[in-house]
Amino acid sequence: MLKGKTIVLGVTGGIAAFKAAALCSKLKQAGASVHVIMTQGATKFVTPLTFQSLSRNLVFTDTFDEQDPSEISHINLADRADLFIIAPATANILAKIAHGIADDMLSTTLLATMAPVMIAPAMNVHMYEHPATQNNMQILRERGVRFIEPGVGQLACGYVGKGRLSEPDEIMLEIQSFFQESQLLKGKKVLVTAGGTVERIDPVRYISNDSSGKMGYALAGEARRLGAEVTLVATQTRLPIPDGVDFVKVNSAQDMMDEVLSRFDTTDVVFKAAAVSDYRPIEQLDHKMKKSEEEWVIRLVKNPDILQTLGQRKTTQFVVGFAAETNNLEAYAQDKLKRKNCDLLVANDVSQEGAGFGVDTNIAQVFDAEGLVEVLPLQSKQDMARRLLQIVTGRLASHAGSVYVQGNDFSEEN
Ligand code: CTP
Repeated sequence: MLKGKTIVLGVTGGIAAFKAAALCSKLKQAGASVHVIMTQGATKFVTPLTFQSLSRNLVFTDTFDEQDPSEISHINLADRADLFIIAPATANILAKIAHGIADDMLSTTLLATMAPVMIAPAMNVHMYEHPATQNNMQILRERGVRFIEPGVGQLACGYVGKGRLSEPDEIMLEIQSFFQESQLLKGKKVLVTAGGTVERIDPVRYISNDSSGKMGYALAGEARRLGAEVTLVATQTRLPIPDGVDFVKVNSAQDMMDEVLSRFDTTDVVFKAAAVSDYRPIEQLDHKMKKSEEEWVIRLVKNPDILQTLGQRKTTQFVVGFAAETNNLEAYAQDKLKRKNCDLLVANDVSQEGAGFGVDTNIAQVFDAEGLVEVLPLQSKQDMARRLLQIVTGRLASHAGSVYVQGNDFSEEN
């Protein structure tokens, strides 16, 4: 099943390193070409010879111990990998990758690779639950790393809790589904917008909103994971750009409109997750406004509606709109979907706790022209992105586009 795939298996120093030997053997049996990198810690638990015998390849433990003068091992491995899997992953390697530390063969190769990374952590329950570890995992998730969560049970340290390395069979299933899923959007171009637009008043002041961009970033990372060529058009956020995603930074709604429209003709799917300011100051001062009068009136003018423009121009593109509502969610969502001629509309009730701006979770309802498609209960934005992409991928095959007729639309689906 993994014939022709090159998998780099990183093994770090935990008692579960012995399970990585079984994983290595299963990967090899499934036809993959397996290259193992061990940290010094890992070699205290299992010998490199074990992995060398199972993988039938040299095992790397030291960045400077080059076996072949014609190549630089960490770059070569980084370039050849179709997938990087770290099992078991200690809290230490999570911290190193999250912060770009490259001080041994494994962390250096990880920094050099463009390949997708999958991580199966294993550690003491308190180390796992420590905010530092959870924070590092969140950083990595946002960057597109896929985690195979540890199981709950008796740990080698004597505690009972979450921290046991997932079983090699479960890790194998994840790896297989990863390779299957990475073909789903192959050859498709996906455009995602994210973040709140910035409408300048003067060089030091602007109008914006509370959007964190998290939903859009999660969608971009997920679409990339499914094999799409992804462009993320986003405003300034503190979020890490998902691996392999083409990033275009914008400020105002007009900038966003220009960048989106210039790519729209060659795009297959658009996720319009950005929170676009509905209005901008009529006038943008080129100097800082000085304090003088008791009142300062700023006149605003309506911004172009990017989604509505896309809805009018679309031919074969599949367009997903988003709506932030605080009341009458269903009626407003249906109206927006029709008015903006979207194929799907994801509506969040931002008045609910755990939904909307700034938080890591979301609650939404998905609509199409026929009505409610699915209710998405409270879940992480990452999980919601995954589900939304499943819905879109499922519909793409039968999607033949739709035609916009003056404030009305009809779909031509086969
Ligand atoms: N949108 C857009 N351009 C705008 C305003 C909104 O492309 N100028 C897009 C958003 O990216 C989102 C969808 O339209 O996908 C709905 O945004 P929302 O702010 O909920 O809707 P509005 O049309 O602005 O309606 P209202 O603020 O009155 O609810």
